[in-house]
Amino acid sequence: VPLYDFLSELPKCEHHLHLEGCLTPALLFRLAAKNNIRLPSADENPAYASPEALAKRYEHFDNLEDFLQCYYRAMRALVTEEDFEVLGWEYFTNAHRDGVQHAEVFFDPQSHTSRGVSFKTIVTGFYAACRRAKTEFGITSRLIMCFLRHLPVTSASDTMRAAIDGKYFDAIDEGESPKISALGLDSSEVGFRPELFKEFYLEAEKRNIHRTAHGGEEGDPTYISGALDTLHVERIDHGIRLVEDPELLQQVVKEGIMLTICPLSNLCLQVVKDIRDLLIKEFLAKGVKFSLNSDDPAYFRGYVLNNYLAVQDAFRLSIDDWKVIAQDSVQGSWIGKERKDELL
Ligand code: HPA
Ligand code: ZN
Repeated sequence: VPLYDFLSELPKCEHHLHLEGCLTPALLFRLAAKNNIRLPSADENPAYASPEALAKRYEHFDNLEDFLQCYYRAMRALVTEEDFEVLGWEYFTNAHRDGVQHAEVFFDPQSHTSRGVSFKTIVTGFYAACRRAKTEFGITSRLIMCFLRHLPVTSASDTMRAAIDGKYFDAIDEGESPKISALGLDSSEVGFRPELFKEFYLEAEKRNIHRTAHGGEEGDPTYISGALDTLHVERIDHGIRLVEDPELLQQVVKEGIMLTICPLSNLCLQVVKDIRDLLIKEFLAKGVKFSLNSDDPAYFRGYVLNNYLAVQDAFRLSIDDWKVIAQDSVQGSWIGKERKDELL
């Protein structure tokens, strides 16, 4: 791939990464053995015969739903605070190798609290990995708490309560960001409209908590406009179906909303047939800000550098194009001016 060295060394910010999406088959088998979690037997489900068999299973997903079933099933191996820290560390070591300097990462508390894991165990474990990334690699990070849109709104309400009552939205020290910096919205999109989660997003806005939501991955552009107009999100995760609504695209440009695009994820989940179907050049020409991200790297063929390389292989962008992408991803990060100046 042309510009390989340049892209490899380019300081990167990542904004669309599910920590649970870093759970590789090898780590899943290791944690399941440690925690005495029974995996399906080879008879029940041959995909779970071995880490190698499971990696093979992950080579093809029919769509988002097919992936999500694997993703939620794998999470059952996560039990202790240390497990969450190990998983977070799995991300940060790979991100460091790929030149990530700043990462805003998602986690799905409901997929663990529903199995009896406490909210505190999850956040404390992931946050410990974030702190260690800062000390050992100088990587700054933010945690984004996602609601699972396929679960009842009452479950999201319990999750919001846990974050508020545990003071996870409160600044730790003067000027420092809270343990949970933002809200996100993920899982099955079509049929689970953003408007369902309005009360939590407005509560977050009141508390100066940042807001984003998945939208326009499988859902039509009304899932994007709904998130912007009703949830007051500051960016859109995926958002690639924005191109179907030119007026909305103009609104996104005017308001400086950033899309967090995940090229390999879109390819693996059959959202596009080819990376070239992503309208990257149109977004650049029209001034739509976006960052490039890995989404669920244990499932979608690689971490963030592989996504940069896939885009370069498909589009042969210029160094100036890449500078725009790199600058927009710094400017779209939820960090102060000082940190932005360091990264620019
Ligand atoms: N979309 C929706 N939910 C998800 C995704 C995604 O790309 N990754 C993990 N959960
Ligand atoms: Zn995602």
